Amino acid sequence: MNIDKQYPSVAHLEASAKRRIPGFARDYMFNGISRGVSVRKNQESLDQVELMPRYTNQADKPNQRCHFLGREYRAPFGVAPMGLSGLVWPNSERILAAAAKSQGIPYTLSTVATISLEETRTIAGDHAWFQLYTPQEPEVRKDILRRCAAAGYETVMVTVDVPFKTRRDHDIHNGLSVPPRFDLKTLWQMGTHPGWALRMLRTGVPQFVNLKPYHDAGQSSNVGRSIRESTKYIEERMGLHITAQRFEEIRAEWAGKLLVKGVLDPEDAKMYMALGADGVIVSNHGGRQLDAAPSAVSVLPQIRAAVGPDVPLIADGGVRTGLDIARMLALGANFVLMGRPFLYAVAALDQAGGEHVMGILKAELQSTMGQLGCPTLDDLPQFLVGNSAG
Ligand SMILES: Cc1cc2nc3c(=O)[nH]c(=O)nc-3n(C[C@H](O)[C@H](O)[C@H](O)COP(=O)(O)O)c2cc1C
Repeated sequence: MNIDKQYPSVAHLEASAKRRIPGFARDYMFNGISRGVSVRKNQESLDQVELMPRYTNQADKPNQRCHFLGREYRAPFGVAPMGLSGLVWPNSERILAAAAKSQGIPYTLSTVATISLEETRTIAGDHAWFQLYTPQEPEVRKDILRRCAAAGYETVMVTVDVPFKTRRDHDIHNGLSVPPRFDLKTLWQMGTHPGWALRMLRTGVPQFVNLKPYHDAGQSSNVGRSIRESTKYIEERMGLHITAQRFEEIRAEWAGKLLVKGVLDPEDAKMYMALGADGVIVSNHGGRQLDAAPSAVSVLPQIRAAVGPDVPLIADGGVRTGLDIARMLALGANFVLMGRPFLYAVAALDQAGGEHVMGILKAELQSTMGQLGCPTLDDLPQFLVGNSAG
């Protein structure tokens, strides 16, 4: 199979992914919250961003290498944290962590991932970042951060936009649970997706391995019980408002780079920066938390204006092409994250998916910069239509 020809874009991978995974996993990955307004808004607002080509410019070798948070990356984008990725496609965390390392971009592991933070650091090396959902007990939080430091992580992002139990209609309707509940409907969905089901059998039932030590002191060998306890732990003992005081505690506990993920309000961005954050991720969580939330695109210019030119800003939500990456950078981001496109790619192509989609995005960004006449990433804001500084 010639995958370059068959899957030239994220859209092609998405169409294939849709067919290859069972309905409950598909709904969990594709959908947002409520009526899906903010998911649609994320992509629609990107579509509205216009860039002006300058055909008189000389830009034969656009350079997309990027210095960010003290490291050099081969492209200005990385993999966003995605909890339960291993349920959407077995082994997806390992595949994406390895691909990120070989492609020279960061991979972020979620607290509620299905492989351990220690294993991820071994696979992705310096390219591994960690995302923290804050447990209610400070001792557990401290221990997770201690493990991150011991494993060699340099960058942790604390997610602030899940302060309360999330209610997603599709997941409730499907009875989405970990492990998947084996009623007739889910069994039918699994049986009609044998590629997924066989891989799941080989990989084993996904577990929230990073949280297991905190509710399962005896490290129970009963997988079912351990998973049920993890799920209960997440529902009952995680999810907090990251107030100024809590953020200061986390800052004091983590000596490495600390990013704040899920900021939409310019005042919040300023506050976290004043409390010692090293950067802000402007994000509405892929439209999965609050259906009335604005898109990153619509607030990014105000956040940039509020924090000034030197604060590292990352943006995500709805980015599907190299052109979209250029749009986010033109609007004031220094770096871009994507979630779903990477899961589409592994669901479509298994092992080959990670590197393939990263290659597509790099090639599209290169072609966009060449078309614009833009020699470096820092020049992109000059091409934004309506940017008076341009
Ligand atoms: C299946 C899925 C699981 C997610 N899990 C997490 C998570 O555990 N922690 C987190 O901070 N964000 C999580 N997110 C949000 C992503 O990190 C990111 O903000 C979002 O996916 C970006 O939008 P995009 O999917 O349109 O690229 C998740 C997103 C998806 C699609």
